[in-house]
Amino acid sequence: MSKKKQMAIGALVHANGSHAASWLMDEARPHASTDIDYYREMAQLAERGKFDFFFIADTPAARTENLQAWSRSPLFMNVLEPLTLLAAIAGATTHIGLGATASTSFYEPYNIARLFASLDHISHGRAAWNVVTSANDYAARNFGLDRLPPHGDRYAKAKEFIDVVEALWDSWEDGAFVYDKASCQSFIPEKQHLVDHEGKYFTVHGVLNIERPPQGRPVIIQAGASDTGRDFAAEYAEVVFGSSGNLDGAIAFYRDLKERMVKFGRHPDDLKIASGISVVIGESEQEARDKLDSWQELVHPDVGVLRLSQDLETDLSDLPLDEPVPLNRIPATSNLHKAYFDEIAGLIRDGLTLREIARRFNRAKATFCGTPTQVADHMESWIEAGACDGFMISFVALPSTMQDFVTKVVPELQRRGVFRTDYEGRTLREHLGLSRPENRHAVAAAAPLAKRA
Ligand SMILES: Cc1cc2nc3c(=O)[nH]c(=O)nc-3n(C[C@H](O)[C@H](O)[C@H](O)COP(=O)(O)O)c2cc1C
Repeated sequence: MSKKKQMAIGALVHANGSHAASWLMDEARPHASTDIDYYREMAQLAERGKFDFFFIADTPAARTENLQAWSRSPLFMNVLEPLTLLAAIAGATTHIGLGATASTSFYEPYNIARLFASLDHISHGRAAWNVVTSANDYAARNFGLDRLPPHGDRYAKAKEFIDVVEALWDSWEDGAFVYDKASCQSFIPEKQHLVDHEGKYFTVHGVLNIERPPQGRPVIIQAGASDTGRDFAAEYAEVVFGSSGNLDGAIAFYRDLKERMVKFGRHPDDLKIASGISVVIGESEQEARDKLDSWQELVHPDVGVLRLSQDLETDLSDLPLDEPVPLNRIPATSNLHKAYFDEIAGLIRDGLTLREIARRFNRAKATFCGTPTQVADHMESWIEAGACDGFMISFVALPSTMQDFVTKVVPELQRRGVFRTDYEGRTLREHLGLSRPENRHAVAAAAPLAKRA
């Protein structure tokens, strides 16, 4: 019997969890977001669950407005710098991949090439870079800008950025550093290749001061949802975070992205789509729902209104909490997350008060509540339907939701033969079934007429 398709699993970890009130829960440790021992424990737990990778999202900014409300839900206000964090986790784990976000809008390519090459060496081939162009002006203000540049410009810059980074990772061929004491030769000069780049955004004349990463290149992650973002992913990404909350949307996204790869000369298997999902697990579906409801009760009204205002794309903070929201406060159209917008608009039309809507709204379609069997059924059915190659699990409350997943869902997936029972390789590329890219100069030397695609 042929082996069933294996799913990839990544863990998206925010200190106490991704829920707006996770830091208020009994299990939440104060100061977890800067506590390296805590993060090590989370990464070790994910590694016990044989996850492909552990992932840290990031934006290089803290909020500076609506501070009363943000102080009640402090996501991203006090966090460790992700690469520093992952380097420390590398020493406490052996197999799990280590991914972090870094923005092409606020770094120089040389820094990024060097940082991720270092992480790949430190972790013996487990590094992954989530390439983002950033999507908020808070970050822009920390880097000499009032606002982010337009979307298209950000992606044009990202494209040049990643080309330079990949060229730098190839600036030494594999095996360049020999450290041969007998012949007094530490490296082979012919295996160094100068990057000679002058572009619209960057100028680089040099080579990296670290040998080629163990994976050849760290794994490239991306989460572009726009047309430009999808093209970018189709050209460069090896893992893509899908964010469609419904099966049909996810299947359409999967097909679209894999088809786009053809025009860049890539094979669909060279990119794994990990669908974003949050799960709450209970002994029964009702117990899981009750658990989520009890967490919803913890969301402070200020935070609830802030989140509603964001997703309905209009400020609701002037409205009384205990009265229905006037229908004329629903904007005519949505520009951001249509599903969330529609959900809130529906609750307003049902005549609920602002307080009730704030409690009930949880981007509900994005959170799956159920028994371990139901969660496993859901995940397996998405893989079978061709909606994704795996999942990016956002843990709502930590450590409990990850513990539940590792001890109850993972064994079920393993029993069904759709998830590994142990790591078979050491590098993240090996876990994901991605090949190690050859060095472009070695390829050119081996076949002088071969051109880089
Ligand atoms: C699972 C997931 C994780 C993400 N992590 C980050 C992040 O850490 N930092 C960030 O600026 N954007 C992050 N994003 C946002 C995306 O990179 C991207 O900006 C967004 O999907 C919009 O894409 P578009 O610009 O192509 O429309 C994430 C998106 C998803 C789905």
